[in-house]
Amino acid sequence: MSNSVRVSGSLRNRLAITLIGGAAILAILLFFVVRAYAAQIAQKGQDSILGASATSILDAAVIRNGSVEVDFPYSAFSILNTPSDDRVFYAIYRDDRLLSGYELLPQPFLQNGAQQTFVTTKFRGATVRLTRASRVLVGENLRTQVFVTVAQTQDALSVTLNRISRNVALFGVGFFVLAALLSFWATSKTIDQLTRLTTSITRRGPQDLTPVSKPVPAEMVPLVASLNTLMDRLDQSLQRSEDFIAEAAHRVRTPLATVRSYAEATLQRVSKEENRQALRSMVRAIDESSRAAGQLLDHAMITFRADHLDRQDIDFADLVTDLVRGLTPIAEMKDVGFDLQCDDSVKVSGDPILLQNAVRNVIDNALKYSPSESVISIFVRAAPTACVVISDQGPGFPVDQISQLTDRFTRGDNAMGIIGSGLGLTIAQDVATAHGGALHLTNLTKGGACVTFSMS
Ligand SMILES: Nc1ncnc2c1ncn2[C@@H]1O[C@H](COP(=O)(O)OP(=O)(O)OP(=O)(O)O)[C@@H](O)[C@H]1O
Ligand SMILES: [Mg+2]
Repeated sequence: MSNSVRVSGSLRNRLAITLIGGAAILAILLFFVVRAYAAQIAQKGQDSILGASATSILDAAVIRNGSVEVDFPYSAFSILNTPSDDRVFYAIYRDDRLLSGYELLPQPFLQNGAQQTFVTTKFRGATVRLTRASRVLVGENLRTQVFVTVAQTQDALSVTLNRISRNVALFGVGFFVLAALLSFWATSKTIDQLTRLTTSITRRGPQDLTPVSKPVPAEMVPLVASLNTLMDRLDQSLQRSEDFIAEAAHRVRTPLATVRSYAEATLQRVSKEENRQALRSMVRAIDESSRAAGQLLDHAMITFRADHLDRQDIDFADLVTDLVRGLTPIAEMKDVGFDLQCDDSVKVSGDPILLQNAVRNVIDNALKYSPSESVISIFVRAAPTACVVISDQGPGFPVDQISQLTDRFTRGDNAMGIIGSGLGLTIAQDVATAHGGALHLTNLTKGGACVTFSMS
């Protein structure tokens, strides 16, 4: 069956790939965002120290005797110490004239009104962070502007950033692994629902067309609803055909009975052997048809009831005893005796009408296929499972056909000349299966057929 279903990808793979792909993108984004944020914070830290250094130098600038003097405070450079021994450069200008420091140090333009500016630039082959600040000095008859530029390499900052990057990368990988595991878990949880539905439908018996009643996730409701509708339609159409067979068999049987009684009456009146023979064949054909109609009717009824078993708590021994009592007159006509042995109480839960029908068919076979003046043994046992074992002293089942005798309309070679339709054992087996049991056919070593009808 699965061979005829066209496969288009796998839901599990699609879900897993989407979720894991999403997790990977999130982990990478997380890495870049956190690293950029950390770099920004670290940069701000360096800027504020650089700024403080420049300001403290500016604060030390004074006008003495008409010239500008700067007494470096020790702290101006000591606050810039880093574990990586970053290099520090400075330049002090009075207006456009270099007072002290590195002449080649870039001097970024201070925007209108701005006291201080920060830039990252290259100096002496290294990347440096640089700040430039200014202050106006006013003395007697003198007004001048002092500019201080302080720059520092970024080795310590790079070390810090690398460490942060490594930690964030580790965190990102951890996040990804966790998210991937969660994705697998979520995927199998989701697919589980489908698997569960599939299992519950696969486990059903071939006759079970009841709707799926287990709760399913909202997304699966349309699928299950259409499945239920389909099964309902199938059930109804099966039921219609069973009803049709039952109705047809019923309609055939009644007129057949009438025809048979006419044929019997005519047989009494006719004396010519040739005509008598024809009438006898006619009666026999009517019996065949009537039996077939009866068995078809029973089979249709059983197929229908097997789906909706009317289970009752019954004593299987009582049921078999009643049956045997009912069949005794027929057995006596054939000079056949019953040897019935029952366990004290064989409690079963089953559909009494079906069970009677099944056991009657098996006993009926024993009566039909065993010779007169023989005994049919019937044992009703409670353990290991409730069962009835019916054996006769006839020729037994045809050995090469034994496995097919329970098939519909299958009769053995030994049934030649005996009225029957080949449905009796089918009915018995269907009833046993519907009750969770089985029908087992064997031949006794001393001859004779032995049928075990067991229940679960
Ligand atoms: N007790 C038995 N001894 C020997 N053969 C048997 C016995 N019971 C059944 N069989 C064989 O199994 C075949 C199938 O039996 P089954 O009861 O299904 O059909 P049937 O008896 O032929 O017809 P019916 O539907 O009228 O019962 C029989 O035709 C017969 O060959
Ligand atoms: Mg039979």
